[in-house]
Amino acid sequence: ATRASIDELIKRMTLEEKAGQLTLMASAWGGGIATALNPPTENQGFPKQIEDAVQGKLTGVFNGNGAAMALQMQRAVMSRSRMKIPLIFAADVIHGHRTIFPVGVGEAASFEPSLAERTARVAAFEAAGSGIDWTFAPMVDISRDQRWGRTMEGSGEDVILGMIFAAARVKGFQGRSLADDDCLLATIKHFAAYGAAESGLDYNPVDLSERTLREVYLRPYKAGIDAGAATVMSSFNEISGIPANGNHWLQTEVLRGEWGFKGFIVSDYTGDEEMIVAGYAADRRDAARIAFLAGVDMSMQSGVYAEHLPGLVRDGLVPEAKVDESVRRVLAAKSAVGLFDDPFRRIDLQREKARSRLPNAIALARESAQKSIVMVKNEGNLLPLSPSAKIALIGPMVRSGADINGPWVVYGDNAQAVDLPAGIREAVKGKGSVTVTQGSGIDQPLNGGIAAAVAAARKADVVLLAVGESERMSGEAQSRTDITIPPAQQELAEAVARTGKPIVVILRNGRALALKGAIKNAPAILVTWFLGSESGHATADILFGKVGPSGRLPISFPHESGQQPYYYAHKATGRANPPGPPQEYKTHFRETLNEALYPFGHGLTYGVVVYGSLALSTPRMGWDDKLTISTTLTNRGKRAATEVAQLYIHDRVASITRPVREMRAFQKVDLAPGESKTVRFVLSRRDLEFVGVNNRWIAEPGAFDVWIAPSAQAEGARGSFVLAAA
Ligand code: IFM
Repeated sequence: ATRASIDELIKRMTLEEKAGQLTLMASAWGGGIATALNPPTENQGFPKQIEDAVQGKLTGVFNGNGAAMALQMQRAVMSRSRMKIPLIFAADVIHGHRTIFPVGVGEAASFEPSLAERTARVAAFEAAGSGIDWTFAPMVDISRDQRWGRTMEGSGEDVILGMIFAAARVKGFQGRSLADDDCLLATIKHFAAYGAAESGLDYNPVDLSERTLREVYLRPYKAGIDAGAATVMSSFNEISGIPANGNHWLQTEVLRGEWGFKGFIVSDYTGDEEMIVAGYAADRRDAARIAFLAGVDMSMQSGVYAEHLPGLVRDGLVPEAKVDESVRRVLAAKSAVGLFDDPFRRIDLQREKARSRLPNAIALARESAQKSIVMVKNEGNLLPLSPSAKIALIGPMVRSGADINGPWVVYGDNAQAVDLPAGIREAVKGKGSVTVTQGSGIDQPLNGGIAAAVAAARKADVVLLAVGESERMSGEAQSRTDITIPPAQQELAEAVARTGKPIVVILRNGRALALKGAIKNAPAILVTWFLGSESGHATADILFGKVGPSGRLPISFPHESGQQPYYYAHKATGRANPPGPPQEYKTHFRETLNEALYPFGHGLTYGVVVYGSLALSTPRMGWDDKLTISTTLTNRGKRAATEVAQLYIHDRVASITRPVREMRAFQKVDLAPGESKTVRFVLSRRDLEFVGVNNRWIAEPGAFDVWIAPSAQAEGARGSFVLAAA
């Protein structure tokens, strides 16, 4: 539809129909979210929902079940509704659709944005094949408190990594042209600073300075919008006293005014109505008025717009022109995905099957899972293992059909995922042997489990200890006070360690964990997140060295839960404790070191990569000049390595104190044994900017430290330079 034809439609619509275009509801097919547990059988609500749609009370539905559902609804609307405006079908296509890729934070560990673009592309291809037009992804919330369960969905703690992955995922979902039948509208969520919830407690208030908001939290959203994201979802939290849903400054002044966002904003699930309980709106009508005037174009699930926008307009509390503007945005998005040209273009039952879990998608699931695995420890080169070893695979993560795909999977099936026993058995077939023992539940002991596990360990050359979090322990509303491995599993680990057998820990996790005892002390540790469909294959590929580990931590692993929030880019206090043991009257906790156990950016390879000295194109960078920073990486090991060289800066003295280090760029470099390569980064003044006293981006002349290093805590190659005055 052209702008003129959209305007024509709007002229013919009643106020109720306009409010309907701004109202999105969970699909009533099968009672809402359709999962393996919630089969696609119609419930009584579905016929009523179709009638609502026919009467123009809905713009579309989300998390329904595939093309069959979409077909029924769209047919009814296109044949029987007055306006014949096609419905839009949305869904949480978060880390894959039918083929499941690693959770967001895992994929970010690849430090390979093009990988995220490719997985989002495949997810869009599969989802658009099953009648979906619009995904509620990517989630780009920075998370610096690992108690928060939704860490697993984003790209971790770092601003630059978050920005780059946000843009890559938007490009992947939206493809070349939204009108293509394999593209989805992307949603940047949750706007804004949802990840900064006080104490990591999901939905909790956020209290942030405008500076930190602009410098850290807002940037990945902006990057996603600059990459062309068509929609934005507002967040549940308040920011410094004003709920995001009622925040005019955030949604209208910053997002639309400063950033020029042209798409539409949808509330999160009943988020607008929740302003009543939060004490910001008096009742549902007030909530509708506040959210709408602040900038929320579309209301998800609460129904407050359908119920109250017409009356608010009639009573002169909301201008009709503003309602028209929001409807125009929504219709423009429907038009962009081709719904006016062909309301059925993504609805095709044959295509739905034909696009599901194709070999190239499964191959990509394996590749992305391999690249997400981070080897944080490998004492005595215990890994890679020989496939002829006698292996005891122990721990609750040996179970099949559960906790493999990870949280926020609406359409994938754990039963179709390759579990650890299957992946490892396949890798050692005809050479070694594997015994599989669960040993314990996730958070409950298993009767006789420890004895069986110890017996299995005694007979083995090496133990693979698969422990961690269940799917339900991370994700939405899954905040934890204690980010350790549950006691039942810890007990199992201690008992197995007492056998003296070498242990490789395989962690399954949606957040950074505080590792303890036998788990922390094991000679080798792999952080494997939730890897999705090809979990078992990819883990085996790394364990036996078919592929070298190449992931790097996108979140710091602290020593203790009580260190949260914990992130590398913190400020120094005037009493900064030098690296190492705590000193009196210096900043420290009594019980632990300040440094991370495993810092942001850390990850080992099967090679031995050595950093040369740092070279700068000039020690004095002119105000408008560029600075080239380089070093040589050499693989002194006997196996190939994929190194992630990270560029960090530190502004020594500024009008606003600066973090001890900030990553500005990174490069992934393949190094054959014995090979050397030079990595080069180019900085300009823009890379040295920060948000100054007036909350505007500024750069200041002065001295900077700079590192090209293998982690936020490593020295790597270090130097310094001066930014000269203008
Ligand atoms: O998209 C999600 C959001 O991330 C959390 N609340 C529910 C939405 C729709 O399922």
